Amino acid sequence: MKYSLIVVLSFFMLSACSAPEQVVHKASLATQNEVSIGQSAVAMPDAFSADVAQQIMLDGGNAIDAAIAAQFVLAVTLPEAGNIGGGGFMLVYKDKESDFIDYREQAPLAAHRDMYLDAHGDVVPYQSVIGILSSGVPGTVAGMWLAHEKYGTLPWKDLVDPAVKLAIEGFVMPQKLAGYISRYSKRLKDKGFDVNFDDYFASAKAGEVFKQPELGATLALIRDEGRDGFYKGKTAKIIADFMANNKGLITEQDLAEYEAKARQPISAKWREYDVLTSPPPSSGGIAIIQWLTMYDQLTKGKDKLEHNSAPYVHLLAEAGKRVFADRAEYLGDPDFVQVPVSELIDPDYIAKRGANISMDSISVTELIKPGLKESEETTHFSIIDKWGNAVSNTTTINLGFGSGVVVEGAGFLLNDEMDDFSAKPGVANVFGAVGGEANEIHPKKRMLSSMTPTIVLKDGKVSVVTGSPGGTTIISSVYTSILNALEFNMSAQETVDAPRFHHQLLPKDVIRYQDGLTPQTVKTLEDMGYTMNNNRFGDLHTIINRDGQLDAGSESHGRGKSIVF
Ligand code: DON
Repeated sequence: MKYSLIVVLSFFMLSACSAPEQVVHKASLATQNEVSIGQSAVAMPDAFSADVAQQIMLDGGNAIDAAIAAQFVLAVTLPEAGNIGGGGFMLVYKDKESDFIDYREQAPLAAHRDMYLDAHGDVVPYQSVIGILSSGVPGTVAGMWLAHEKYGTLPWKDLVDPAVKLAIEGFVMPQKLAGYISRYSKRLKDKGFDVNFDDYFASAKAGEVFKQPELGATLALIRDEGRDGFYKGKTAKIIADFMANNKGLITEQDLAEYEAKARQPISAKWREYDVLTSPPPSSGGIAIIQWLTMYDQLTKGKDKLEHNSAPYVHLLAEAGKRVFADRAEYLGDPDFVQVPVSELIDPDYIAKRGANISMDSISVTELIKPGLKESEETTHFSIIDKWGNAVSNTTTINLGFGSGVVVEGAGFLLNDEMDDFSAKPGVANVFGAVGGEANEIHPKKRMLSSMTPTIVLKDGKVSVVTGSPGGTTIISSVYTSILNALEFNMSAQETVDAPRFHHQLLPKDVIRYQDGLTPQTVKTLEDMGYTMNNNRFGDLHTIINRDGQLDAGSESHGRGKSIVF
């Protein structure tokens, strides 16, 4: 597909999946974070999930109990990304052991490699991003169930019940969410997309109680029957019938066979820290290790670069080019392709990759090849409990409001995660990411992700818990949050609010950045030859532990809330 079309597509969809409003700033940190004794903390994408997660921990639950309850609440109160119709990754650090629960969606059995290509072999615009064909088999309920079986301490019913109540009794619709819903609905109309989103969401009015009875009934089945309340029986039949009646692909067999998978997190030394992060099918863990390591290697023995100065942005942009060249070539679902993880995060390999970076000029995009061959809506939350356990959880239905399709009779939005596969080698997806064979579509395969829930440890204790939405920009949000916290010693609020930037090899020499880089920095980078694209991204939720004192921050522009208690 022509690049210009991708850029237009990306702009349209990314604006749909960025956080809704930027104008109204929250009150000061003191009122936003209800700091008391510094034992536990949550940094959540909305107030409903923050309050429920806190309550679960006050009731004696651990971080994993709180995470499960929050995930279900978000399926009700944050419909643009919270979900039971999508998937995600949960990174757990409990009793000094780490675990990674992969509840990513997977391709239906009837999916095939060329399913988004027309008779000429060209990608059919929008088919993998909107409407029923864009959905992978949802993984969220299975993921929460596995987390509960392995680590939960409170009864499952108690964890799902708050969400059931919020769906059935309703919640007061926040202004920002109401605005987001109406803008999305208008965009669907403007583009002529025929999906049933409005049937379920058009009635949402800011400040009024919004009820979702069908979703409430589905959640009640999940509460009462566990994972089988979704993957078998009534709900599974509703989903399969809805699919069959609307030319969708997901069947009862797809649902019955879905399994969340526990995987070994990536663990790498960085300075005096151990970074625990996301393995494939996430690309993010490998990427942030490469990025952080290259940063240290290239700045070693030199004066510390000024935060967000032109040399700082340039160096990290150059690193990003190499990171994304590897991503496109090697990364995919590890159950289908062999991903050379240890080679990609080997410091010697990373040093070779960074060796030809010049601080004075931009490297030639076409010459940045994958290195081993010689020659925008998701949501994230972070939790630490009083025992020092932590959860870093990123979950998504891909773009804001996913496929725009609600399962009639079950009341939940379906994901459009199939777009994260490579529909055709070298053709960019909605986030501008290209890929090849490693990420092509196969039945039951999981699409490559950029979600990067991460926990940084120091001497076995949690130091930072962080993560963000934002498609491919997630990776930049995550590694810059680690640098902000640990290299620049920022508070949690400063860490999440500091302007960020992102470069991903393609489009060529384009740096996407947020308001706040100085005009001088922007000009210097433009003079070097970069195209500077001012377009905000991400929604970080980060907790920092400084000598036993917790500090939590949720980005000021979003609907988030963080509490230390
Ligand atoms: O898994 C991924 O990388 C994407 N589906 C995430 C989508 C996302 O973050 C959209 N948010 N703005």
